[in-house]
Amino acid sequence: MSYDVVVIGAGPGGYVCAIKAAQLGLKVGLVEKRATPGGTCINIGCIPSKALLHASEMFAEAGHSFAALGIDVGKPKLDLAKMLGHRQATVDANVKGLEFLIKKNKIDWLRGTGKVIGQGKLSVIGDDGTEKEIEAKNIVIATGSDVAGIPGVDVKFDEKVIVSSTGALALEKVPGTLVVVGGGVIGLELGSVWSRLGAKVTVVEYLDTILGGMDGEVAKQFQKLLAKQGLDFKLGAKVTGVAKSGKGAKVTFEPVKGGDAETLDADVVLVATGRRPYVDGLGLEAAGVTLDERGRVAVDDHFCTSIPGIYAIGDVIRGPMLAHKGEDEGAAVAEIIAGQAGHVNYDVIPSVVYTSPEVASVGKTEEELKKAGIAYKAGKFPFSANGRARAMQQTDGFVKVLADEATDRVLGVHIVGFGAGEMIHEAAVLMEFGGSSEDLARTCHAHPTMSEAVKEAALATFFKPIHM
Ligand code: NAI
Repeated sequence: MSYDVVVIGAGPGGYVCAIKAAQLGLKVGLVEKRATPGGTCINIGCIPSKALLHASEMFAEAGHSFAALGIDVGKPKLDLAKMLGHRQATVDANVKGLEFLIKKNKIDWLRGTGKVIGQGKLSVIGDDGTEKEIEAKNIVIATGSDVAGIPGVDVKFDEKVIVSSTGALALEKVPGTLVVVGGGVIGLELGSVWSRLGAKVTVVEYLDTILGGMDGEVAKQFQKLLAKQGLDFKLGAKVTGVAKSGKGAKVTFEPVKGGDAETLDADVVLVATGRRPYVDGLGLEAAGVTLDERGRVAVDDHFCTSIPGIYAIGDVIRGPMLAHKGEDEGAAVAEIIAGQAGHVNYDVIPSVVYTSPEVASVGKTEEELKKAGIAYKAGKFPFSANGRARAMQQTDGFVKVLADEATDRVLGVHIVGFGAGEMIHEAAVLMEFGGSSEDLARTCHAHPTMSEAVKEAALATFFKPIHM
């Protein structure tokens, strides 16, 4: 068998690369060891978690918010099995859609574990151990990432009591108590799912803030909103042990600044302390493909590894571990292989936490601008002053626009609020075109919309908002 391109890994990076390469007229093979395409994102990540986030939000709204709108539904009753069924149906529909796209684009589905042999050569090892050698002018490694665990701590995941994000998507009953290790994206998204369904959730986080790396003001406000929803936080706390104890588990942690260790008992512990690039069994060392100091596949600006004709994209290389970053890299590398000018603008990659309310951001945070010594202006507008937000009872949160003091060019936009993950894209498009806060403020925004808060925040950077 011989191909123009063989992609190893059918997650968002890999399948987008395969589809784009096929659209550009190349003969493409897609190697995947999982039975279904879609990678972590569709099978056990972004998609199933969004199904549970949505369902649990509806449950919470029915319980807390409907009455004020004049809708009396009584006390909602949870059918967890059915809710998990919705999660699986969502996954299945996405998998089916993707299988259709793979066929439609005449991509060869090569089921098995890919192993790189060297320039132009790889093998696919089937479930029965048989190895098939394949020739490919170009190989794209898109093997993604796996749960990292806690550095220096022996965590024995059983995916029932001590769970990663995979187990946290499939708990058979709502735990009475859930301890989440790690106040990052996974911990807060899945922690808030189970909190809404009735668990008492405590988040233990090493840093002094949740969502480290996000704009500090946004993270602080967001933590307050989550606390109001009933989540507890132990910040500046380093988890040193997670172990089963009776029917549940014990989490041991100590103050990062020094002091006595504490323990928390929980029915379930979710460990969400990051992910590591997945290169296991790929044979990269033998093939001469270099890894960087953090175990990621080292690539140049054109996604080329140390071996010509072997590329890598997505979670397995540098940059944020985000599905959409991998997708854009997948499309770009396909274009590069086809002789076009594929490119990803890393300055404009939106990032969204799909909680309720959502948190979304694009570009630089205030902390980053200060550190870089860039003079900037900040404009803010709260949803409490937005008519549509009032009508929808979604007045929590605000929009913050950061613009260069000298040029007015927008450098970052940060939103905490209902629908933030959708609203952020007008900022991303503006920034892609190098727009100013005045451009944003002078763009007519439909009334009444939550997006008017973005316009008002932009106005606040160089003059005054109208509705405040
Ligand atoms: P993360 O890197 O976002 O957060 C991990 C947190 O664990 C950090 O805040 C870290 O300080 C903390 N931590 C590490 N060791 C600790 C210890 N010993 N004790 C206490 N806290 C400790 O990683 P997370 O949430 O596991 O997500 C993994 C990746 O998946 C991330 O790159 C994330 O961006 C991505 N992801 C993105 C989503 C989205 O965009 N909506 C959704 C889910 C995951």
